[in-house]
Amino acid sequence: DDSEPVPRRAILVTGGAGYVGSHTIMNLLERGEHDDLDIIVVDNLSNSYMEEGEQKPAVLKIIEEMTHKQVHFFKIDIRDKEDLNSLFNENNIEFVYHFAALKAVGQSVVKPLEYHRANLTATITLLEVMRDHGVNKLIYSSSCTVYGEPAYLPLDEEHPTGRNLTSPYGKTKYFCEEIMKDVCASDPKWSVISLRYFNPVGAHRSGKIGEDPEGIPNNLMPYISQVAVGRLNRLLVYGDDYDTIDGTGVRDFIHVEDLADGHVCALKLFSSPTFEGGFTPINLGTGTGYSVMQLITMFERVCGRKIPTSVVGRREGDIGTNYAEVNLAKKLLGWYAVRTLYTICDDTWRWQSANPYGFRKTNPDDED
Ligand code: NAD
Ligand code: WQD
Repeated sequence: DDSEPVPRRAILVTGGAGYVGSHTIMNLLERGEHDDLDIIVVDNLSNSYMEEGEQKPAVLKIIEEMTHKQVHFFKIDIRDKEDLNSLFNENNIEFVYHFAALKAVGQSVVKPLEYHRANLTATITLLEVMRDHGVNKLIYSSSCTVYGEPAYLPLDEEHPTGRNLTSPYGKTKYFCEEIMKDVCASDPKWSVISLRYFNPVGAHRSGKIGEDPEGIPNNLMPYISQVAVGRLNRLLVYGDDYDTIDGTGVRDFIHVEDLADGHVCALKLFSSPTFEGGFTPINLGTGTGYSVMQLITMFERVCGRKIPTSVVGRREGDIGTNYAEVNLAKKLLGWYAVRTLYTICDDTWRWQSANPYGFRKTNPDDED
């Protein structure tokens, strides 16, 4: 028989070397329910780490070691249409998880054009190449930021999007959703599940993979954990005059392992006989808000150290409170978050204390 071997079915993961993508891959492989699908990661390493001389980002090597399964990696920028095209030519891709994006809210205010170009070009190029290869099932990393300043709480999927958005980053998430809606409307073969994450935090329970931001963290949880481990001196609390339980901001913090579970449930939705396809936004949150101070207090309890804080003024663009309505996720995905604030802090501390410099072995702050 000299016929060509049929390439294995595959799932493409853009930005799979990043925080949420890597935990989703770990979850897929740990469950083992989708071992008929090869996992193909593309990442340009703009916000993830690969040791010099290595062929794969550190996080993917660790996942391979832990699961004894293979993750294929290509250093590709998904804005490069030719590279992406060859990848689709050479592989039998059926589904795409689209994590790749720039996500620093503050930086997006300073560099709006870079953010719009990067995130929109990446998404449009990916959608074009998918269309050209007849691949039409996509799971998109969206954000609660598309709801802007909440008109009511909890935020359900019917809440208007695109109004009063607080940053160029948030607008790129919204614009990409709108583009995907138009694509779905143009051809009934498309299914896009847009997962609107609330505030992803935590780390894999092993403590071997977790969030590893480049430079000084922008987000609360990695900031707290880097203070706890001694890399940073003091946490600035942005405002204690909000209309909340203790005046500090309230957020729907969701454990990244719960989030990863939600992504695997979303993959199953594609093959559900009752699923109608088209553009489907779904919130991934816990449904409960905790304040900045409540998170700090829980973290102090878990790590047994005091987190030095100073209350300063509100951060530009911040909102007081947000949390998710989670019924749609229950209904469509059979999924809900199960991990507590304690587990979130415990797992974050296990990761941060064992890996003070994230995936690097030495302190990057010492390099020039
Ligand atoms: P991350 O930065 O850790 O991961 C993103 C990965 O994409 C990085 O490894 C980066 O190198 C890669 N990447 C960026 N641009 C690329 C490009 N053009 N081509 C190839 N690779 C590229 O971020 P994350 O926290 O894992 O977020 C993943 C997705 O989830 C993003 O789309 C983000 O907007 C969205 N999201 C994140 C949060 C959050 O707080 N973490 C909340 C809501 C939504
Ligand atoms: C949480 C709370 C801060 C840092 C962001 C994006 C959102 C989504 C999730 C991607 C707020 C306070 C923070 C610090 C502080 N990402 N804080 N000191 O802003 O809720 O959401 O990540 O889509 O779009 O905007 O998350 O972790 O930055 O802040 O007091 O040093 O912690 O004011 O109340 P945010 P965050």
